Amino acid sequence: MTWLEFSGHNITRRMYAFYSALLLASLLRVTVGAKWCYESQVSCDHKCKGPNEWADIAPTCGGTSQSPINLVTKKITFKKSLTALEFYSYQETFHSVITNNGHTAKVNLSGAAQINGGELESNYKAMEIHFHWGKNGSPGSEHTIDGEQYPMEMHIVHIKEMYRSVEEALTDPSGVAVLGFLFQETGSSNKKYESIINALANIAHPGNSTTLQSLSLDLLIPSHSMLTSYFRYKGSLTTPGCTESVIWTVFEDAILLSKEQLSAFSALQFEDGAPMVGTFRPVQPLNGREVFYSRCNVVFVNTMLVVSAVLTTFMTLKA
Ligand SMILES: *[C@@H]1O[C@H](CO)[C@@H](O)[C@H](O)[C@H]1NC(C)=O
Ligand SMILES: *[C@@H]1O[C@H](CO)[C@@H](O)[C@H](O)[C@H]1NC(C)=O
Ligand SMILES: [Zn+2]
Repeated sequence: MTWLEFSGHNITRRMYAFYSALLLASLLRVTVGAKWCYESQVSCDHKCKGPNEWADIAPTCGGTSQSPINLVTKKITFKKSLTALEFYSYQETFHSVITNNGHTAKVNLSGAAQINGGELESNYKAMEIHFHWGKNGSPGSEHTIDGEQYPMEMHIVHIKEMYRSVEEALTDPSGVAVLGFLFQETGSSNKKYESIINALANIAHPGNSTTLQSLSLDLLIPSHSMLTSYFRYKGSLTTPGCTESVIWTVFEDAILLSKEQLSAFSALQFEDGAPMVGTFRPVQPLNGREVFYSRCNVVFVNTMLVVSAVLTTFMTLKA
């Protein structure tokens, strides 16, 4: 072999190594770099990973304690110790910022408002509010009750008092407590939601944010006396990385908004300019987890049974 032949061979080998490295890098970019998105954003050209593929980006999304879930009222376990939550500083007004982060509208909170009670291990402080919705008021909640999907769901994300950030709290299997509120459509508009709904017009594009003056958490949730009926289970974040560190509390009493108010959320846009709609993850398998319910009342009993029981009692009394 002459020197020339040898070096030519060497160059070919080097080029081969270079091109395979390039090929590998581009393959990695496709799998690692692909962004997550909702089912409503998935198109044939597969630019983003829909919920069925989230586990490719964040393996925990394929875990066994995932959220959201369908809450089956016939299979829940009544638990007396799930007493009413205690809300601290929920009545205090604050200034905050509402942001379109490309996946939802989120409101930052300072951690001043806190919750405890209802079997929570410690005080948990409120760090963030965000929403999940359908399209112009069509089904869009994450949790469902007996298979029924509500038009919207609000999450108030709390972390144990000792942690500084949601990221830090996620390292603790019970570090995060999310309160989930379902919405229902009603005929008249809900004045309490006007400031948030008016703000949506200013945050149409991802990255936009605007200030919210004088909001309080109490303004956004039903009165505390309506919040004694709730579902409780152990689950996860409903977006990648789907970390299984969340104590879920989903309240039965729904918040009422008009169709116009619900539709206002659909005016936001995703990164590609498409309407931000269908921002929910489909329900996940329960995998043997137990779902607890805070009250042993008649809410879920068939109305006919109640009527006949009342009639029977009445007739027995008369006889
Ligand atoms: C929200 O964030 C903004 C700046 O990003 C800050 O000025 C404001 O005080 C924050 N609000 C709360 C309630 O933490
Ligand atoms: C919202 O974001 C878009 C796109 O980034 C930008 O062009 C626009 O100026 C922003 N609007 C406001 C009010 O910040
Ligand atoms: Zn959420």
